[in-house]
Amino acid sequence: MPKPNSPPSMKFALDGREVDLLHWIYTRPDIKEISGNPAKVLAAIDEYSNAFSVLMNIGSAKGAHITSVIDQHKPSVFLELGVYVGYSAILFGQAVRSNGGKKYIGIEKNPEMAAVANQLVDLAGLRGFVQIIVGPSDEVLRELIRERNEITQVDMLMFDHWQELYRPDVWLLEELGVLVPGVTVLLADNIIMPGAPDYREWMEATPEKKRKLLKSLDVGSLRPNPDVVYETTVPEFNTVFGKVSRSMMFFTCKINKRTGCCGD
Ligand SMILES: C[S@@+](CC[C@H](N)C(=O)[O-])C[C@H]1O[C@@H](n2cnc3c(N)ncnc32)[C@H](O)[C@@H]1O
Repeated sequence: MPKPNSPPSMKFALDGREVDLLHWIYTRPDIKEISGNPAKVLAAIDEYSNAFSVLMNIGSAKGAHITSVIDQHKPSVFLELGVYVGYSAILFGQAVRSNGGKKYIGIEKNPEMAAVANQLVDLAGLRGFVQIIVGPSDEVLRELIRERNEITQVDMLMFDHWQELYRPDVWLLEELGVLVPGVTVLLADNIIMPGAPDYREWMEATPEKKRKLLKSLDVGSLRPNPDVVYETTVPEFNTVFGKVSRSMMFFTCKINKRTGCCGD
């Protein structure tokens, strides 16, 4: 059936598997035991991904690492760009809630994926704590921060949409003045594989190098702040593919306290 209004299927996604996941979960004989239990909903999503069609979720190895970062920093609000079927929304939402946080906000461009995610978040018993907003990350961030003033600082934010959007979106956050030295933690997945070299270059550059870069880059209407300095961590952990598979590496970035100039 032609789908003139839907984004095209990808090799490993958006081909109907995400809705099939819902049917599979909701027809399980143990659906009543799964209901209201985030860990069991996540285990069911993992089981589907292993048995039927791979899903582009953060997965248990990287997920466990990020929940330990949440345990350590205890963000009040956790923002995520790219929600897909809601695996990370459930995992991180539950971690933020159990650490006394206020809210998980996920931004997802694809309304069909947001609908699937909302259904699974509801099943996990996290409705009310996890909010999924439909729209492109840059538009929603502008609305939440500049227009509605709902977010005045970013405690913790995860980049997990498409890698080419990581750098423009971090530039936008710099422009909006919500990155707080000593507070904000930015996380990003798939930095090495498939890779986000332009994002990584920006996050690791000195203010001097950033000023030079900006002379040759087209930033459109964005206003990156070259004086924001990030501290980069590349965590090592075991994955199902062995110790530190390149595809599983990602960064934890902090605003350097010394800079103290964000959003000026
Ligand atoms: C890798 S998946 C997210 C996986 C999810 N974080 C998890 O671990 O369970 C990437 C998602 O980003 C979404 N996406 C792509 N471009 C986006 C944009 N500009 N704004 C928000 N979401 C976007 C895609 O629709 C897709 O669902």
